[in-house]
Amino acid sequence: MQKSKFLNIVLAAAVWVLEILLATKSDRPDKVAAAPGDIPLAASLVAAVPFMKKSLGVSAEMHPKPAVVIGSYDKAGKPNIMTAAWAGICNSNPLSIAVSMRPATYSYGNVTDMKSFTVNIPSAEMAKYVDYAGRFSGKDVDKFKETGLTPIKAEFVNAPYVKEFPIVIECELTGFHDLGSHRQFIGKIIDVKADEAILYAAGRVDVNLLNPLIYAGGNYYETGRLIAKVGESLKDIDGKPFVPDYSQRYANETLEVIHNRKSVRHFTDQPVSKVQLETLLRAGMAAPSAVNRQPWVFYVVTQRETLDTLSRQLPYAKMLTQAQAAIVVCGNMEKAGNLQEKGYWVQDCAAATQNILLAAESIGLGAVWTASYPYDDRTQVVIKALSLPENHVPLNVIPIGYPTGEDVPKDKWKPENIIWK
Ligand SMILES: Cc1cc2nc3c(=O)[nH]c(=O)nc-3n(C[C@H](O)[C@H](O)[C@H](O)COP(=O)(O)O)c2cc1C
Repeated sequence: MQKSKFLNIVLAAAVWVLEILLATKSDRPDKVAAAPGDIPLAASLVAAVPFMKKSLGVSAEMHPKPAVVIGSYDKAGKPNIMTAAWAGICNSNPLSIAVSMRPATYSYGNVTDMKSFTVNIPSAEMAKYVDYAGRFSGKDVDKFKETGLTPIKAEFVNAPYVKEFPIVIECELTGFHDLGSHRQFIGKIIDVKADEAILYAAGRVDVNLLNPLIYAGGNYYETGRLIAKVGESLKDIDGKPFVPDYSQRYANETLEVIHNRKSVRHFTDQPVSKVQLETLLRAGMAAPSAVNRQPWVFYVVTQRETLDTLSRQLPYAKMLTQAQAAIVVCGNMEKAGNLQEKGYWVQDCAAATQNILLAAESIGLGAVWTASYPYDDRTQVVIKALSLPENHVPLNVIPIGYPTGEDVPKDKWKPENIIWK
């Protein structure tokens, strides 16, 4: 057994035992006893993440952070805004917000002098204003003027809020802490105002409608889907189990698409558009190609009769009767030049094919690689059905359509297929 695998199992077992011990000792009412056969949550997470933790030293890797905009007046009554990520609710009674600002900021002096500020909560669409307010100082520019945002005098405190932002929180300064680089201002919430467009019936903010901006790792993000309600996090949400299966989760959308690609052999009768097919072809042509020869040519088949003929005559392409279209990836021997014999055209066309398959997955379509080359009989079928010229050699036929959902990706991860040196 590999050393890392062994270590993972030992780690998983240790966390599992710890979880069980904690569960038995816990008197928390919300602690749910594991049903027989349940995988303990922590153990399943550890087992699925195949790496050890690495110390990053002292670092602000607390994610996510908010990206809010603080409104304040200077002594002359000029309104200013500044972006702050080091902010958050810090007390329930009185309900208060803490915001940390560097003395070098214009807002620091404003809030110290005026003893009030507003916290303006942006939606994700407002990222550009948030970014601007965080990169320029009110000492040098009039940020309201430059951005076109509208300052409105707050109703209860001596600070401006931003009219265009969906939520504004009026705060009265109740104290501060000088922490070193930053002064942490504590503001008692006096009033919260929200655009009616983001409220649901009960008069509360609908977070989906708000679509708040998130700041993490030097980037702005918008919020994702709802995964659980507080206190109900062990139940299923929308029919999907809350307990995340990390072996099915990937670091980014590209990996997600790669791992979710499957050979789709069952299609609905929903039509596929020319724009969609062009999207696939663009992806195909973006593939790497030896010496940039691009020795390929793509035939796009949408005629029912031709699809049916190919379906009848190709042994492993019966699904073409259901498919809405097919892309036939051919090697163009005129372009392959002296690399033809070395088989580079096959490699290049294979890379283009994989790009097409991944692009199909990424836009919700299904596709499958059905071989033509190197089988003489199948190659002849395609050449005849499409009247291909002599120098176009069909590598494969890719049926395309909307998947019925019957086909699922295979887990092909096999550590035994890797030799580490
Ligand atoms: C996303 C983001 C978050 C920020 N968070 C803070 C913060 O929490 N505290 C702070 O002092 N400065 C923060 N800054 C920097 C200030 O917003 C920046 O110095 C701004 O120019 C100050 O404006 P002012 O001088 O008009 O007050 C942040 C900037 C960005 C872009």
